[in-house]
Amino acid sequence: MKIHSITLAYFSPTGTTRRVLESIAAGITADGITRLDLTPPEAQTRATAPLRDTLVLFGAPVYAGRIPAVAAERFRRLQGEGTPAVLVVVYGNRLFEDALLELQHLTVECGFRPVAGGGFLGEHSFSTAELPLSPGRPDAADLQRAADFGRQIREKVWRIAHVEDISPLSVPGNFPYREGHKLTGVAPVTDAALCTRCGACIAVCPTAAIPPDDPAATDPAACILCCACTRACPVGARALADPRIQQTRRWLYESCSARKEPEVYL
Ligand SMILES: Cc1cc2nc3c(=O)[nH]c(=O)nc-3n(C[C@H](O)[C@H](O)[C@H](O)COP(=O)(O)O)c2cc1C
Repeated sequence: MKIHSITLAYFSPTGTTRRVLESIAAGITADGITRLDLTPPEAQTRATAPLRDTLVLFGAPVYAGRIPAVAAERFRRLQGEGTPAVLVVVYGNRLFEDALLELQHLTVECGFRPVAGGGFLGEHSFSTAELPLSPGRPDAADLQRAADFGRQIREKVWRIAHVEDISPLSVPGNFPYREGHKLTGVAPVTDAALCTRCGACIAVCPTAAIPPDDPAATDPAACILCCACTRACPVGARALADPRIQQTRRWLYESCSARKEPEVYL
């Protein structure tokens, strides 16, 4: 099969997943690339036509060894018609556990045929200057590996005559999946003395958890702790400072700092 078109379908609050997908797509090379950014809240309800005549690259970050629930919901709105797909999870140097398997099950249920999958590295959303967690990743070597993966995908797809000939992909993970747990009652806090009410945090929040008229009143029930807002704040007024998060940061820093490398499955 020849790849004429690529569709990037991703949920990527802090942008690392998107960057990895872009490099994979550059390695595949196609006449056209369409981007379906499922990160903004509108993606929860936006209608999308079935995806056909394209290779879909699905990308999601790993949250507690799983696909973020909100990302899974948005992916479920996409429909394939035996459409070939590449599955990519991006994680912060701890583990990706069941996330890739979950993405495989989900996309197959939606009518896609996975041809390849990968676990890539991104700077951990909880990373700070004091406790850096996989800082700067994906770095140049990661993006090179992503582009090489793209070339491997192109060669594999070229060798396949029809979508029906795609054999089932084997990826690591366990089912039933690991139970995802979310800290309750936690959300970033705003330093009112620094906040200029510019709205940058509101614009990037994937779950509309920050009320437009009161950025300090982040709804902890809606917040997924993605840290898009703390990264986007131009004056450093927002921080995820809860002691439980700080404890997690310290544990990650002490236990998960040894560099991990991308893994691909073809
Ligand atoms: C709530 C939450 C849970 C996370 N859980 C994991 C995890 O289980 N393993 C891991 O290695 N990284 C984990 N991370 C880090 C993200 O997977 C990583 O930062 C990823 O690069 C973020 O992708 P994005 O830039 O596309 O948003 C977690 C991040 C958040 C916010």
